[in-house]
Amino acid sequence: MSVEKKDRRSFIGMAFGAVAGVGGAFALVGMKKAWDPLPSVKAAGVTTVDLSPIKEGELYQVEWRKKPIFILKKSKDMQSNPTRDVVVADARYTVCIGLCTHLGCIPYWKPSSQQFICACHGGIFDSSGINKFGPPPRPLDIPPFKIDGTKLILGEEGPEYKKLIAQTKGA
Ligand code: FES
Repeated sequence: MSVEKKDRRSFIGMAFGAVAGVGGAFALVGMKKAWDPLPSVKAAGVTTVDLSPIKEGELYQVEWRKKPIFILKKSKDMQSNPTRDVVVADARYTVCIGLCTHLGCIPYWKPSSQQFICACHGGIFDSSGINKFGPPPRPLDIPPFKIDGTKLILGEEGPEYKKLIAQTKGA
């Protein structure tokens, strides 16, 4: 092979490598952008719920970050649970993520027995979201929240949330 041909080949090789390298870098930047949530999504990750129209014993469901959130205004005959109840203006609420802690099915509220029932494998949670029967290994998870007057702000960690979490962990 002539020196000239060899030089030409190595130049093409280097040029191809450089183009591939730059392309790869752009691809990585593109992928990183796709993985990172957009700032507007983060801002939209907060859901505000007015609790005042909810009636006693009524389950209210909202969506927060694509997850169902159960908000149950406890009636007087429902057992209070100081480690789970969210107290707002003398009313007690159960606020939890409506995904079964076994395999993630959405339980339904059965008013007659005051239980959340998971039809997938028969898991049962009480009105505070505590697992009482079947395979669920733990209570329904509590989403981060903040209380502002009669409003529940999902997605922000207020003192009420921190207190519940500390109590749950036995701190
Ligand atoms: S997913 Fe709920 S009991 Fe299995």
